[in-house]
Amino acid sequence: MAAYEYETHDYDVVVVGAGGAGLRATLGMAEQGLRTACITKVFPTRSHTVAAQGGIAASLGNMGPDHWQWHMYDTVKGSDWLGDTDAMEYLAREAPKAVYELEHYGVPFSRTEKGKIYQRPFGGHTTEFGEGPPVQRTCAAADRTGHAILHTLYGQSLKQKAEFFIEYFAIDLIMSEDGVCQGVVAWKLDDGTIHVFAAKMVVLATGGYGRAYFSATSAHTCTGDGGGMVARAGLPLQDMEFVQFHPTGIYGAGCLITEGARGEGGYLTNSEGERFMERYAPTYKDLASRDVVSRCMTMEIREGRGVGPNKDHIHLNLSHLPPEVLAERLPGISESAKIFAGVDVTKQPIPVLPTVHYNMGGIPTNYWGEVLNPTPENPDNIAPGLMAVGEAGCASVHGANRLGSNSLIDLVVFGRAAAIRAKDVVDPKTAVPTPNKASIDAALSRFDGLRHAKGSLPTADLRLEMQKTMQADAAVFRTDRTLAEGCQKMAAVAGKMDDIKVTDRSLIWNSDLMETLELTNLMPNALATVVAAEARKESRGAHAHEDYPDRDDANWRKHSLAWVEGPAVRLAYRPVKLEPLSTAEEGGIDLKKIAPKARVY
Ligand code: FUM
Repeated sequence: MAAYEYETHDYDVVVVGAGGAGLRATLGMAEQGLRTACITKVFPTRSHTVAAQGGIAASLGNMGPDHWQWHMYDTVKGSDWLGDTDAMEYLAREAPKAVYELEHYGVPFSRTEKGKIYQRPFGGHTTEFGEGPPVQRTCAAADRTGHAILHTLYGQSLKQKAEFFIEYFAIDLIMSEDGVCQGVVAWKLDDGTIHVFAAKMVVLATGGYGRAYFSATSAHTCTGDGGGMVARAGLPLQDMEFVQFHPTGIYGAGCLITEGARGEGGYLTNSEGERFMERYAPTYKDLASRDVVSRCMTMEIREGRGVGPNKDHIHLNLSHLPPEVLAERLPGISESAKIFAGVDVTKQPIPVLPTVHYNMGGIPTNYWGEVLNPTPENPDNIAPGLMAVGEAGCASVHGANRLGSNSLIDLVVFGRAAAIRAKDVVDPKTAVPTPNKASIDAALSRFDGLRHAKGSLPTADLRLEMQKTMQADAAVFRTDRTLAEGCQKMAAVAGKMDDIKVTDRSLIWNSDLMETLELTNLMPNALATVVAAEARKESRGAHAHEDYPDRDDANWRKHSLAWVEGPAVRLAYRPVKLEPLSTAEEGGIDLKKIAPKARVY
């Protein structure tokens, strides 16, 4: 191996990733005086949160009655009873506080006539524990809410003197012999230098792995880097079989058209011009939960009622909405529809298709963001020195299916929670431990091996093979046959990593090497997804298994855990947490309200 010199940096906390969760954690850590570094492979305000459109859920009640318990109920039902009860209570209870903090930090929310934060309806958000009409719970900054949040959090983090290491790619975690995370090794993309960030706490906020699929709303940077690093450190990934398809990705381009479009009154039609959601979800119609809407669209297409020359997509209609509503509330998607589908939303429908959007699974954590390394004796065993927040983590608040606008709130609530917890577990007065040299050497050896890889398969070719396999075999609907085929094909694809070809050996702006490193992160995420999906013999949330169409709580109300080593995946399970944080007597939810039942909208 080539000898690599490196510069060492010491911090109390190192956050990897500068999306909504990473920045909220960075800001919270820095606010309480912890010496905090945030390292990020893209400029912070280009992180994927910038693309979040419709809004952030919190029961502010600005547009009508709402209650945190109704939000919790909707989240439990949305998760198809796979979410952890304590985490879901924490999310719903803390959401209003977290949103008001954002407002005070300066997020430019849209406003009501009275000057309050504007809130719109979103799928699966209801009143009266699912018995009342849809609620307007999703706080919005037009249809550019993520953009507004990201810019505000970055500015506030700078104000608190957090230090940013921008365009640094995290290669691997540094782990001590006894399993404590001690930092990360990173590559500075613009000058080729290597950096060791030693820390008392590492927070992974690296986002999802949408790019394991061929068509995704996720940015090309969403390559599951945190999950990849965790898998290589011998820690498990959780609930990876649950992959969300957003009902309205633009047909062909995959770009997101926010659910806020349906929240503002848009609706879907098939080739017969029928508002088919009325048939499938008579109460909430186009505002049923996303997994439900995506499945209904897929069924319409399968049954020959898709639109277009190939009858392979669906129409989203907005032209009946007043032009001033489109201009004020949905300017971004009006522009995207023009650019990517060539349609004028005031006159024509948008061609849409369910598109991979979000990973419910990820690095298992408790609701403080502490990473879990479950053992048979202790399913809540903590992996010391390591946290994960945002889409990279799995707290688990979304269970088998996430409600729209529960992602942005997850980012800020759990980014904030990680900072609150760090105050108790990170002592700023102690010295930063010297990181394990053997672990640093192993990271650099892997890096060097990929840099000099002399196989026959270009990274882009192998990545495409993985993406096509995942798209075909771990799709909206799954069967025993497609999943078995997917497992076998993905094992073969992962096996080909040994034959990867990198042509650029330089260290400066080497996108060939960076994409190869990203592929080594995508691969364990993809493998865990298809193997865990093959094993789960039921349908729940986003996992729609045609051979097992019903949810099976007796056997499958449990989280999957996947340890990935090379192409091999080992599975185990841990129980869903059923205990809330507070009892009904203490002001918490009545557990009878959230007891499992059929999930209808
Ligand atoms: O439709 C959207 O605006 C997406 C929101 C979300 O995924 O939470």
